[in-house]
Amino acid sequence: MIGPRYAAITGWGMALPEQVVPNAELACRLDTSDEWIRSRTGINQRYVAGPNEYTSVLATRAGRVALERARVPPEAVDTVIVATCTPDRPFPATACTVQANLGIPRAGAFDLAAACSGFVYGLHVATALVKSGMSACLLLVAADVFTRLINWQDRGTCVLFGDGAGAVVLQATPERLGLIAANVGAWGEGEALMAVDAGGARLPLTPELLQMGRQYVHMNGREMFRHAVRGMAESAEQALAMAGLRFDELALVIPHQANLRIIEAVARRLELPVDRFFVNLDRYGNTSAASVPIALCEAVEQRRVRAGDYVLLTAFGGGLTWGSAVVRWGETEG
Ligand code: ACO
Repeated sequence: MIGPRYAAITGWGMALPEQVVPNAELACRLDTSDEWIRSRTGINQRYVAGPNEYTSVLATRAGRVALERARVPPEAVDTVIVATCTPDRPFPATACTVQANLGIPRAGAFDLAAACSGFVYGLHVATALVKSGMSACLLLVAADVFTRLINWQDRGTCVLFGDGAGAVVLQATPERLGLIAANVGAWGEGEALMAVDAGGARLPLTPELLQMGRQYVHMNGREMFRHAVRGMAESAEQALAMAGLRFDELALVIPHQANLRIIEAVARRLELPVDRFFVNLDRYGNTSAASVPIALCEAVEQRRVRAGDYVLLTAFGGGLTWGSAVVRWGETEG
């Protein structure tokens, strides 16, 4: 391809586990209530993966839908990236399993870990590969089965999360489509604000650690809230400035779906009406890396994103990590 090269999103897909867990069910098991969860988070229910619905299973389903929508045969894909913080196993990469499941022969495959910012980080990296000519057709999946990291006795975290996967196909094009500008960042000093301490190389699991519940996520909710609002608002402003756009030129903002109050606070900070923000966390809770691509799929299906529109994706997660991406949408007929 001669001249400028972009990475258009030509296919998209999502996948959810079968089981829905409404707030009322959690209220039967622990000291919480539907009213508390709704009013503090905006969440009404979440999908929780069963034993056979692990990350590669959901990622494969979402990836297959995205490839079909793009009308891309598996052999055309040269790179598979899976953004996840809940890989099937420490190794090999979940992306290799997805590559095999989808019958994508010999494509490069790797995982990317940026917690809830994983899809925005992934889009950043994937677009760079396509724009540089290193890749012509790439499958990016963001998938998490975050409920596997949950202590169901900890009401401060277990009410917040759900499971799912979202995927996009990126293809090289001379048209000014796909990711136009992105800003990603991290603040490693904040790693202890949200983490799973045991089960990695630093602290391998022992019966004692399991007994203590150190395999579960712990989180400082109030601090994460504060950093999430600042991280998303500031990176959104920077990505938009890099794209040379004003907020009123955006058709939609698709934020990470962690908490409705976080989304409202970001909207206030950016002086934008909250109805310009896509929200579906009432049905899914926080699906970690999958939350932004699931929301993107639904926004496209609801025709809230149309050909030629500019959309801002913004996310925040453990790490701490954050990222925002300005995307110009192409054809939505699929
Ligand atoms: N049901 C009932 N009461 C609860 C529950 C619950 N599920 N959880 C906490 N409480 C109690 C607390 O114990 C506390 O009680 P106390 O005052 O007697 O001590 C009270 O409610 C208030 O607790 P806070 O933590 O101050 O509640 P807050 O309004 O901050 O809401 C929440 C907590 C929802 C966790 C909020 O801080 C939040 O959403 N933070 C952001 C977390 C987040 O999104 N993390 C993920 C981002 S990164 C990623 O997605 C990977």
